[in-house]
Order: sequence, then structure tokens, then C-alpha cells
Amino acid sequence: MIETHDLTKVYGDLYAVNRVNLKLEKGDVFGFIGPNGAGKTTTMRILATLLNPTFGEAYVCGYSIYTNPREIRRLIGFMPDFFGVYDDMTVMEYLEFFAAAYRIRPPKRRKICEEVLELVDLAFKRDALVTSLSRGMTQRLGLARVLLHDPQVLLLDEPASGLDPRARIEIRSLLKELRNMGKTILVSSHILPELADICNKIGIIERGEMLVQGDVKEVMAKVRRNVVLQVAVADGTDRAAKLLEDHPDVESVGEKDGVLEVTLREGIVDYTFIPALLLENGLKLRMLREQEISLETAFLKLTKGALQ
Ligand SMILES: Nc1ncnc2c1ncn2[C@@H]1O[C@H](COP(=O)(O)OP(=O)(O)OP(=O)(O)O)[C@@H](O)[C@H]1O
Ligand SMILES: [Mg+2]
Repeated sequence: MIETHDLTKVYGDLYAVNRVNLKLEKGDVFGFIGPNGAGKTTTMRILATLLNPTFGEAYVCGYSIYTNPREIRRLIGFMPDFFGVYDDMTVMEYLEFFAAAYRIRPPKRRKICEEVLELVDLAFKRDALVTSLSRGMTQRLGLARVLLHDPQVLLLDEPASGLDPRARIEIRSLLKELRNMGKTILVSSHILPELADICNKIGIIERGEMLVQGDVKEVMAKVRRNVVLQVAVADGTDRAAKLLEDHPDVESVGEKDGVLEVTLREGIVDYTFIPALLLENGLKLRMLREQEISLETAFLKLTKGALQ
């Protein structure tokens, strides 16, 4: 659905995007991860046919960005990192305005607008002014807008940036819903764990270059040799520590403020044994989560040659 070959964009002597090769199959949710200035927005704008590359090829749904930009625009929904909303417009008016721009005819227009509002959970704000929405709601409205023409491919540039944790969770569940609808999604972020559980593929880009990409599990395993988990139980922390220490998949167990830090052995990524093990031994699991791996740590590992 999306394919690029050596996609490159040069500004002066700066390689904003440097020989990037992407491949997304139908239904893929590709997490495009990189720090500020890595080249994410540039790549997405090229795919959205808003910007021409310096060289390289890019195809969306089989259409070349050079020869068939109109077809591509019809098939994609591009949500830029910043988009304007207009004063004095209600949420419904805003969507109807864009639906008209997509040439959705009046009898269907209202219905489609209602449907996408429902999907992004904003129906209750239908008559509110767009300028009165919170940032999280504005992002959801932005998503609603790019869904109006039922695009097969979504290009979402940092949809969760600037949102509070709750709003981030809402965006994530919305992305899951879109994934379940079979959409092909390229979504960018500068936080790796944020996307890891909703994507099936990820790519890490830095200074225009793709450092690593592929199946989520593979990439995560490359950037993090060992999975580290935080585990807390209602009581019996010491006993839980002992049980986990004795498990063959566990490398070490530490403790900090009553929370266990469990490092799994290299290559072990499945930790479903933990709740089972604790439960079998009558311990109540209060928390189980993967320790977040920051992009910085990931990069340090990558650039230190941890991949070789
Ligand atoms: N129009 C332009 N002229 C010159 N340089 C540009 C232009 N647009 C982008 N760049 C440069 O290209 C590089 C990549 O920028 P890009 O916006 O693609 O990064 P990004 O990964 O989206 O970053 P962010 O996380 O901050 O959104 C940056 O160094 C940026 O300064
Ligand atoms: Mg950007």
C-alpha cells in the first residue's frame, strides 16, 4: 500500500530524508519513530504528495507520487502535526465543510459526519465551537476530518503529541479501532513504547536515515536486548521476588519502593508466565508493566553497535 525506494529529500546540504525504503502491506500499522528533526514529517508530506522528493520513488496504493498525485490524495487521509481550525464554526459545520470539499453529496454528508463523530467519540460536542475544544478533542476532530472520505491509507503525523496521558490512551484506542477496520496506517511519534503495542511494524529514523525497521517484536528485541518489567503484588513482595528469580526466563530481580524490577533473559519477550506464576502461588498482582525504553536509550544502544 505504501512503498518507497531510496526516498531522499535534500535541503541545501542537509539530508532531511536519506535513502529511506519503506514497505507497508494492506492492514499494516507502521510506527514511524524518531526524535525532532529526524525526517518524519518530511517523509509523510512526500507521501501525501504535498512535497516533492529530491530523488527516489514513492508509491501509495500502487500510484506514483510523481505521476498520480490526484489518485493518491483521494485514497489517503493525511493528518498533519499542526492543523488549523476555523473560528466561529461548530464541530458539525467544520466536518460538513470538509465533507463538501471531498465532494460528499448533501444527502449522505450529514450521515457520514455523524458516523465519524461517533467513531472519534465527539458526538456530544457536535454543536460546540471548534475553538472551544480541548487539545485532545481537537486531535480527535482532526482524525474525524481525515476519515470522512473513508480512506484506505492514513498518514498520521504525531497524533498524540501534546496530549495528557488520558487523551493519549484515547488516541491509541482510536488507532486500534481504525486498525481493526483494516486501514493501513503510517503513524509517527518520538516515543517508542507509545506505539509498540498498536503497531505491527516499526521503523526508527534519525537524521533522515532509517536505523532499523521491521516487525515490532524484532525491532524491540534489537533495541532492547532484555525486557525489563515492573511488577507489584498486594503483599508478599519477597516471596514474589523469590518465585520470579527461580523462573528460567528471568535473569534478575531487583526491588525499589516495593516494586520489583524484573529483567528477563535475552531474547525473552513473552512475559505472560508472570501473572500465571504469581496467581498459582496465591499472590495478587497489583501492577505489571514494561519499563519504558526511551528513544535515547534505544539510540545509544543502536549507535553503540548493539546491533552487530
Ligand atoms: N522547508 C525546509 N527547509 C529547510 N530545512 C527543512 C525544511 N523542512 C524540514 N527541514 C529540515 O529537515 C529535517 C527534518 O525535518 P522534519 O520536519 O521532517 O522532522 P521530524 O522528524 O518531523 O521532526 P519533529 O519530531 O520535530 O516533527 C530537519 O532538520 C528540518 O530542519
Ligand atoms: Mg514532524
